[in-house]
Amino acid sequence: MKTLKSLRAYLLISVVLISTVSLAENINNINNIISIQSPKKKNSIHFKLEHGIPYYAVNHKGNSIIKWSRLGIEFKQYPSLGSNLKVIENKKSESNTTWEQPWGEERFIKNNYTELVISAKEAFSNIQIDIIFRAYDDGVAFRYALPKQANVSAIDITNEMTEFNFVEDYEGWWIPAYDSKVRYENLHRKTKISELDTIHTPFTMESKKGLAISIHEAALTNFASMTLESRGKGRLKANLVPWSDGIKVKLKDAFKTPWRTIQLADKATDLITSYLILNLNEPNKLGDVSWVKPAKYIGIWWAMHVKKYSWGSGLKHGATTENTKRYIDFASKHGFDGVLVEGWNIGWDNWPKSYNDFNYTKTYPDFDMKKLSKYAKRKKVGIIGHHETAGNSESYENQLEDAFAYYKKYGIKYVKSGYVGATLNKVEWHHGQYGVNHYRKVVETAAKYGIMMDVHEPIKPTGIRRTYPNMMSREGARGMEFDAWDKNGGNPVSHILTIPFTRGLAGPFDFTPGIFDVMIAGKPNNRSNMTLAKQLSAYVLIYSPLHMAADLPENYENNPAFQFIKDVPTDWETTKVLDGSIAENLVIVRKDRDTDNWFLGAATSESIYKKTIALDFLTPEKMYEATLYKDAEDTDLKTNPTAFIIEKIKVKSTDKLPIHLISGGGLAVSFKAI
Ligand code: NOJ
Repeated sequence: MKTLKSLRAYLLISVVLISTVSLAENINNINNIISIQSPKKKNSIHFKLEHGIPYYAVNHKGNSIIKWSRLGIEFKQYPSLGSNLKVIENKKSESNTTWEQPWGEERFIKNNYTELVISAKEAFSNIQIDIIFRAYDDGVAFRYALPKQANVSAIDITNEMTEFNFVEDYEGWWIPAYDSKVRYENLHRKTKISELDTIHTPFTMESKKGLAISIHEAALTNFASMTLESRGKGRLKANLVPWSDGIKVKLKDAFKTPWRTIQLADKATDLITSYLILNLNEPNKLGDVSWVKPAKYIGIWWAMHVKKYSWGSGLKHGATTENTKRYIDFASKHGFDGVLVEGWNIGWDNWPKSYNDFNYTKTYPDFDMKKLSKYAKRKKVGIIGHHETAGNSESYENQLEDAFAYYKKYGIKYVKSGYVGATLNKVEWHHGQYGVNHYRKVVETAAKYGIMMDVHEPIKPTGIRRTYPNMMSREGARGMEFDAWDKNGGNPVSHILTIPFTRGLAGPFDFTPGIFDVMIAGKPNNRSNMTLAKQLSAYVLIYSPLHMAADLPENYENNPAFQFIKDVPTDWETTKVLDGSIAENLVIVRKDRDTDNWFLGAATSESIYKKTIALDFLTPEKMYEATLYKDAEDTDLKTNPTAFIIEKIKVKSTDKLPIHLISGGGLAVSFKAI
């Protein structure tokens, strides 16, 4: 019923708003510069050819942000499409639609932009290239497209010439792109553009005046990931992740590159509610996705990370029938949707050194899948399957159909996968074209079996969840697990305040929050650098349609703060960022999709945070019971991080809420409509 209603709303909105107008006649072609402006004229993007070389530039509110920067692609077989070009045609159009996410952080998303398509030909080969620009009010984007043409067959791309030539040597937060040890799991560093390494995107920068800029890409399909290399002060260049033979991208004939995206916001908090990346992806390809559902889960997981259990066989084996039953009972008692079970299948005994051992349809003898699937069904809890590949993508692909068919047979609807390893198949980067295609093949195969994916050691998200709504969450950044075993003791206090402005802009992150045993018993050199209240705030601050209550069940039993984790939804009607500053502090509120309830997360890094926020996001005239999970008077991040208090107050939309956070502290609030 809900789906039908949503579909009706979606169709209605689409029909009313679609208005693609061709403005080809009105091209503003002064001095060979062709420009478009975003619908509210906030951003503009400009194109010119100078001596046959293509350039673009970007302005925000009339101020130059990206100076003339080169465009183009180089090939092994053909002349460069970055020089000797002649424009043969250009077309402008506008589009204004609204679409509905089947699940997400925002239900209805406005997609309003101006587009410019430049078609150009290379003088000697006569090869045509199209460069497509879009100007949105929250940023700009462009992509290259090579239409099918007689003089082009096999294509090897050797270089993308795209540059981002900023007016200032902005400071930004980045992680290195070619660190095979930890892939995307580095801590963000902050430097000027001129001082950075070759880096992953999203790369988020801030100007001295507070303008926030983030470079990323959208719709990464059959192409290499784009990383960025520094070319001096304020200058970045696209760096495509190569195949093991050095070629960047191998294609048959025609292609479209992913969109190169530049999100622009007058304050960093607005980046978090920019949906530019999703807008640049293709609509849902899977048809009826009513089977795709956000969820909250627990799992046989943290116990392995803190060395209480093992993944492999033996006395400490975690994934036994008895133990899994115990977790299912706990999930059922507390209303969780799923229980993740890692270490159930053959192959773990030499992990992480093992490479060829994983079998995705054979259980360890002490794990009875048939019995457990029946038991879970009776208890109305789903088992969340797990496929660790150790980076052996070839073996995984060979077993893929059987692996998903096996899970389907046992009613398993969610699968977490993993690719711990420096490379895939011991040769290819995770984020090269090979990896991009591998991960896509897995998502498509999973969809065929009605399975939703949560990918660890993934490639970065680029919004393909819009096209494949079963691609739900992923890691691709340092998760909570680092607190259990990182040699430097755990994630720093600023980590979850950096993520929403950087990696979080790309898409959902399976961070696995909820560690109540903050000091981590039995691991004297490790701990979580968050107070318990800050752990709770992470459920709102970090967006994921799949959120885990990561700690051991015994650490939740009889703890009244567990109620917040039980109450907080993972599917939202809308999201509002009330305040925040990159790596420092953040206050987010989100409204549940199914009720009038709102949830707030607030957290700070080292500095004390004090602010009073208006509750005007609440539905007017409605009374709410607000339950506040706060750091207590005597909470101290270093010495007493688990002290908290719970306060209940009645509030309405005209009220104000003072927020006072201690160093490393947080606040979580549920607002229940009464
Ligand atoms: C790394 C993943 O991030 C973690 O969640 C998982 O438990 C291990 N790999 C084993 O697959």
